[in-house]
Amino acid sequence: EKGQFEHFMLKEIHEQPLTLRNTMLGRINDRDEVSFPELAHAAGAFKDVDKIFIVACGTAYHAGLVGSTIIEKLTRIPVQSDIASEFRYRDPIITDRTLVIVVSQSGETADTLAALHESRRNGAKILAITNVPTSSIARDADYVIATKAGPEIAVASTKAYTAQLLAFYLFSIYLAQERQTLGKELHSELVKGLKTLPVQVEKVLENADEVKLFAESIKEAKSLFFIGRGLDYPVALEGSLKLKEISYIHSEAYAAGEMKHGTLALIEKGTPVIALATHMDLYEKTVSNIKEVKARGAHVMGITVEGNVELLNAVDEICFIPPSLQLLAPILAVVPLQLISYYASLALGNDIDKPRNLAKSVTVE
Ligand code: F6R
Repeated sequence: EKGQFEHFMLKEIHEQPLTLRNTMLGRINDRDEVSFPELAHAAGAFKDVDKIFIVACGTAYHAGLVGSTIIEKLTRIPVQSDIASEFRYRDPIITDRTLVIVVSQSGETADTLAALHESRRNGAKILAITNVPTSSIARDADYVIATKAGPEIAVASTKAYTAQLLAFYLFSIYLAQERQTLGKELHSELVKGLKTLPVQVEKVLENADEVKLFAESIKEAKSLFFIGRGLDYPVALEGSLKLKEISYIHSEAYAAGEMKHGTLALIEKGTPVIALATHMDLYEKTVSNIKEVKARGAHVMGITVEGNVELLNAVDEICFIPPSLQLLAPILAVVPLQLISYYASLALGNDIDKPRNLAKSVTVE
């Protein structure tokens, strides 16, 4: 079943061009409008929504962090992302104009399901983004958007995560269409950009050599840092989780501007830092933060957009991702991070598809 691949994780990483295509299929018409056949019964249902919560765990939570920025940007509805095991117990302010979006690959995560039930009791509308349309979470939600990633076998989530991101982009455009908050030009640029992503992910996968070498070089590291600003920050969180999960190397993700408020003290000569700099609005600021860690001896792998060759002067190693709208960059930027965690774990000889202490589906609270 793994075919040419040594592990399910690597197979699933390489399936992403296909799973992204499948998740887009039938949801963008020839006028570039986004529609979800499965939301046909939802016409007008989101018109009076004045607050959105996105609730999930782990990797799905990281997808929600990106989702919240995108929805706010395109619709101007306030959105807050929460960890399901916290949201349930903090008495969030929910009314009948609140939309709660729960995100779950398996659709069975106990805390996410409980947060759904709690939100329902308080009168919220519930939208589930899930990879398993027959799951408990899908059954108990009012509306369901299926990610079409296909079965994910490796414990570490990869293709489900990028499918969740794509579902958020599509849903944000859908909501913005309903509320007429998205200008024509950005709308068509976004749709064009989404359609280009599968080919661009293929390109990232083809150019994996530098990241592979870098991954092998960190296997002795005792700690690593991921930094980024804007949307690069949730991507950094996801990269760090992935690395911890399968390589067992300690790492932390920081909003790049936060490093100097304490964590910079941990940078020593040779500490590996993975710096994401895909946000062109914030590029100069991120480069200053890279220089700050470099000056303390960090060994920096920069991840940026093709064309930013001058970043070579500030980093030790570099990985380029193809140019896209910066809003869409998370789908491209996470791929080298998935590969870094995979190849670091491979070099360490770990059980990649079944990391210690973890289960694929977390049905206990
Ligand atoms: C990490 C990972 C977990 C899951 C989390 C939620 O690679 O897979 O962090 O994302 O346990 O699971 P689902 O999405 O099934 O609710």
